[in-house]
Amino acid sequence: MRKNIVAGNWKMNLNFEEGVSLFSEIVNMVKDEVIGKQEVVVCSPFIHLNTIGKLAETVGNVAVGAQNIYQAESGAYTGEISASQVKSVGANYVILGHSERRAYFGETDAILAEKVNVTLKHSLTPIFCIGETKEERESGRFFDVIKTQLENGIFHLEAAEFAKVVLAYEPVWAIGTGLTASPEQAQEVHAFIREVVAAKYGEEVAESTTILYGGSCNPSNAQTLFSQKDIDGGLIGGASLKSRDFLEIVKVFNA
Ligand code: PGA
Repeated sequence: MRKNIVAGNWKMNLNFEEGVSLFSEIVNMVKDEVIGKQEVVVCSPFIHLNTIGKLAETVGNVAVGAQNIYQAESGAYTGEISASQVKSVGANYVILGHSERRAYFGETDAILAEKVNVTLKHSLTPIFCIGETKEERESGRFFDVIKTQLENGIFHLEAAEFAKVVLAYEPVWAIGTGLTASPEQAQEVHAFIREVVAAKYGEEVAESTTILYGGSCNPSNAQTLFSQKDIDGGLIGGASLKSRDFLEIVKVFNA
């Protein structure tokens, strides 16, 4: 059985106090209301990690993550943060390859492959994001785009290492736009991703790989998205900034 995960991506939002207060609300609501086995992950800006990482230790199924790390171990990289540093403050996850990092910060598949390695080396779980732009969707090239992102960014891993990875399908045209992929569109791509993983690593690894959907996921569409056979949870941007909305999405897996 693969793990169901609902992960919030706060992006560059919330000052320290706001973030800690939102996280405390989430933790309390999870304690009171979450009865399933789903994992709740919050990927905050670096500044929150130490504090919310400690709060997360008080609840079994809540974890925290970073939204990025630098690919080197340590050294003269002014302004960057390493995998071992985020691990040292209690993070368990790192989002890698988010389309905003690919588009605005020049993160190539080759850089991402290095980031994947250092992330796993420090026993952090990568949430590896893939997805096509609007043009790539409209031209019908999206299957190829997604396959290439997997091949060049993460398929260098041995099967045992790949088995530790979480994938997130995030169509770029659906991120922050209010335009969600329909459950059918999302399921079609998730099934494709699983097939590509099966061809590379075998059925067993493919069946146990958690594949999240991200892109304008909210309390009204989460249920139909997450009920698709190959969708194992969500990576939630905007709706993760409101505790009640985020919890409603988490609770889709309560049943
Ligand atoms: P969104 O963002 O839910 O605001 O569309 C998702 C993401 O970028 O991970």
